[in-house]
Amino acid sequence: MNHYPVLIGLMGCGKSSIGRRLARTLNCALIDTDEEIISRVGMSIPEIFERHGEAYFRDVEHEVLRDALRRSAVVATGGGIVERLENRSALISHTPVVWLQAAPEFLAARIAGDRNRPLVARGNVLQTLRDLAAKRDPLYAECADIVMPRAELKKSAIVARILEQLSAFSEE
Ligand code: S3P
Repeated sequence: MNHYPVLIGLMGCGKSSIGRRLARTLNCALIDTDEEIISRVGMSIPEIFERHGEAYFRDVEHEVLRDALRRSAVVATGGGIVERLENRSALISHTPVVWLQAAPEFLAARIAGDRNRPLVARGNVLQTLRDLAAKRDPLYAECADIVMPRAELKKSAIVARILEQLSAFSEE
């Protein structure tokens, strides 16, 4: 079984940076699904949304996730990965999936003004995050093997806790 962790959670919860630290410690690659989509399509995420629409972005994201789960690598996903049923099924059959759980209030301050995230580039960031959390939190919960509260701890402490819990999976 593949024991490399997959990180899920809302925008701004630190999937990429925590993923990078985990990959360094586990001595493996990090696949960041957003980065992979950018390189496959050859456009930035806002450009992909603008020119091809969100559904196309989600199609590519699905292919990228499917390929990433076959590799021995830590995977940092985009916040919307759980929107598609087939992605949720793939995540549920992959262990361990780590949900970096954070409140919209914590995240809003971290991503306000970020032009690279089309879903929050316009309008009220906090309200958008609240709406996304209402829709997605149950989906993250459905896919997660490990739930890691994000706001309370420093990144280094979170990484240490995740590693601790991962060792339980590799002993199975
Ligand atoms: C999205 C999150 C983004 C990126 C895209 C859509 C979402 O990734 O995939 O802008 O639907 O929540 P991050 O979670 O890394 O910001």
